[in-house]
Amino acid sequence: MTAGFMQTRPVFGNIPANVDAVSGRVSDMDADLIVLPELFSTGYQFISKEETLELSEEIPMGYTTQRLIALSKEFTVYIVAGIAERDGDNCYNSAVLTGPEGFIGVYRKTHLFFEEKLWFKPGDTGFRVWKTPIGAIGIMVCFDWFFPESSRTLALMGAEIIAHPSNLVLPFCPDAMVTRCLENRVFAVTANRVGTEHRGAQQLTFIGRSEIVSPQGSILFRATDDQEETATAEIDLALARDKDLNPSNNFFKDRRPEFYKS
Ligand code: ACM
Repeated sequence: MTAGFMQTRPVFGNIPANVDAVSGRVSDMDADLIVLPELFSTGYQFISKEETLELSEEIPMGYTTQRLIALSKEFTVYIVAGIAERDGDNCYNSAVLTGPEGFIGVYRKTHLFFEEKLWFKPGDTGFRVWKTPIGAIGIMVCFDWFFPESSRTLALMGAEIIAHPSNLVLPFCPDAMVTRCLENRVFAVTANRVGTEHRGAQQLTFIGRSEIVSPQGSILFRATDDQEETATAEIDLALARDKDLNPSNNFFKDRRPEFYKS
């Protein structure tokens, strides 16, 4: 299958323009799976609960998810995209999975970063893996990477590829994902954004460097740190189903959970 990412530069608050910008690039990618950044349709730096409520959308009935469903159907592509989700008076930093069959599911970010804690509720879905015709897709969102339990849980649940919508501001993740893939024998597609936002007290610069990493820890493609970009890689998910390191070692069977702390 062909998996890829779009590295974007959203305009804060302009949902139709941000969705249009992505929509125009889907057909060129010719991918089976496309991962978009975290909060790709709103931008990142919310400055009040009112603003977060106003820009958040219901899933799956909201504007952005419906547009993604239409794109998935038109171009026969699975899409994972970060969206500000509204559920009554609560907002979640969520990611949806859509496919040619329509809406498939939502994941609500487990580990909120910095001021996200002011606007969003911690996710309550837990990690989720969907077995689709193109493979088993697990989702984590940005800062979830910092907790090795996130990718480990997804791998133990059977994820062959981790879709990782992100808005990274710290420099560590692109290199760390090599280890996350290696230790779990999974593929990962991290889709980050570029540009800056200076809406609150602090200016945030997003580091780009979106990437596709293999179960052997190879970086199949890494983007620049400041350009909008798309990339795809031809990948064989069978590599993620084989957890043997050698005839004596299996990444999962050799685990000793009785000695691990929860
Ligand atoms: C982050 O979780 N957006 C850093």
